[in-house]
Amino acid sequence: MCGIFGYLGQDEAAPILLDALRRMEYRGYDSAGIATLCNGRLQRRRAAGKLTSLANLLVRNPILGRVGIGHTRWATHGKASVTNAHPHQSSHVAVAHNGIIENFREIRVELARHGITHDSETDTESAAHLCQYLLNQGMTPLEAARNTVQRLEGSFALAFLFEEEENLLIAARRYSPLVVGHGKNEMFLASDVIALAGLTSTVTFLDDGDLAVISRSGLEVYDFTGARAVRHRTQVSIDSTSAGKGSHQHFMAKEIYEQPRILAAAIKKLGEDAKLLVPDSIVQAVADSAQIELIGCGTASYACQIAEYWFENLAGLPASSGVASEFVHRHRRLEKDTLGIFVSQSGETADSLNALRHMRERGGRTLAVLNVATSTMSREADLVMPIHAGIEISVASTKAFTCQLIALVTLAISVGYQRGCIDKEKYEHHLDELGRLPGLSSAALSCDAEARSAAQEISGSASVLFIGRGTMFPLALEGALKLKEISYIHAEGLAAGELKHGALALVDSNMHVVALAPSGPHFTKTVSNTEEIKARGGQVLLLSDTQGLEVAPTGGWKAMTMPAIDPLFAPIIYAIPLQLLAYHAAVELGTDVDHPRNLAKSVTVE
Ligand code: M6R
Repeated sequence: MCGIFGYLGQDEAAPILLDALRRMEYRGYDSAGIATLCNGRLQRRRAAGKLTSLANLLVRNPILGRVGIGHTRWATHGKASVTNAHPHQSSHVAVAHNGIIENFREIRVELARHGITHDSETDTESAAHLCQYLLNQGMTPLEAARNTVQRLEGSFALAFLFEEEENLLIAARRYSPLVVGHGKNEMFLASDVIALAGLTSTVTFLDDGDLAVISRSGLEVYDFTGARAVRHRTQVSIDSTSAGKGSHQHFMAKEIYEQPRILAAAIKKLGEDAKLLVPDSIVQAVADSAQIELIGCGTASYACQIAEYWFENLAGLPASSGVASEFVHRHRRLEKDTLGIFVSQSGETADSLNALRHMRERGGRTLAVLNVATSTMSREADLVMPIHAGIEISVASTKAFTCQLIALVTLAISVGYQRGCIDKEKYEHHLDELGRLPGLSSAALSCDAEARSAAQEISGSASVLFIGRGTMFPLALEGALKLKEISYIHAEGLAAGELKHGALALVDSNMHVVALAPSGPHFTKTVSNTEEIKARGGQVLLLSDTQGLEVAPTGGWKAMTMPAIDPLFAPIIYAIPLQLLAYHAAVELGTDVDHPRNLAKSVTVE
């Protein structure tokens, strides 16, 4: 979602701002803008659409200055237009904002009483006008910024740039992330640490309620009442190499194809972190809990749903899963010793963060299973387990999903062993099977041509169903999400056993159904369900291994051959053909694969 960047230094700000905004493009946006100070005067350039529009505008109409702020906007209040693009300006102050200012209508009405009018439909413009109004009352920039943020309700990361203040940037955060980068005689401000790649690795993460005063000589942090706060610098390693697509046409293809290497590295690192043979504090914390709640959004929530089966079946722990946006509406009494496991690629998803805070307020312990180790969630959870997927750029989550599953199954196996539900022999067998996953993921990738051919046919469909049983049911939900989010084809995931309870009515010769049926305990029943579909003219794409495909009745639309795999780990490997299917359908339909319409990589508003 929206991205903020600020620069204060010795070089021209505009190219630095533009480059940094490019590094945050993957988050999703639909307009962009920058503002700088040239000889003390504010100048702004804004454009709707992609950053190339802003870059072209800057070529035609450049702006100078060694201090500036930039923004990529994902529309919330008001359409994606130049007028609504950030930074917003009110005579002597420009403001860039991520988040939602919930009381902006109230502030608008108040400002209107003073004759102040708004140009845009945004909530952000009210913050700029309020700050200017306070400057007009004689406040200094710092006082005006502080009094502005005190008035705002909702979530925000804000950057303020003031006319005549060549050595000042002010930033404030509540719930939306912000990080300050320290360079040599230059300072940076970013809403996403990846924007700092190649600029600095020395950073200060701001906390909720921080007001940062940034000058070329450094950083001072206050709270919203004006009291000084101490924040420490840390070193981060920002992998800028992931910012390239390699030989692939899209980041999504690159991220699907790097899974064998990434899974191997993740398994190795998990072995070091989780000390598979000697349970560590995380394993112990899970093993000691009486109840587990697994929470996430979108793809991460399907990883949670799969892990629910694993924690119950391998570790004998009562587990339930749910989506974060609904978890906060539940006020069920928590069992004593409940552990909330929050799964998130970004660690910045507003709904997941709210759910984590909700859990903490109610006395539950929290474990965050994260890809971005420096995220807000990593600082708020009691325990953190990294998944080691590397930077994921494409909006559609692929390698992060399979790495989330690897982390969760590893944890469930370790906890099961710790609790005595799995004996040593079984435990070692599971670890051996875990070690085969990178090789099996390579084998799964070899179905690319079959996936492309199936995708060509699916791309003409109005709707596609995905079905499975056991852990293949949540994977069916994930397959449907992947297809709809990047190809815009309607898709639905179903427990295969539920078909007869309603959805079978949808099936006719136009309906394509993807059935996930690895050999194992649910194979026969799932294949029976595909027969019911075929009997009604439905087109079945059966995903199974050689053994399964040999015994399954012939006559379906298509089959895809998966490597033989222990059913426990099947969702990790069967995720890959579903990713390929969605990818090829999207390419066939010519959608913007890495930046699907209306979506953002990191959903930082509720
Ligand atoms: O960063 P998170 O894992 O918390 O994000 C959760 C969802 O927004 C995310 O998985 C989303 O569903 C993806 N676009 C799916 O591909």
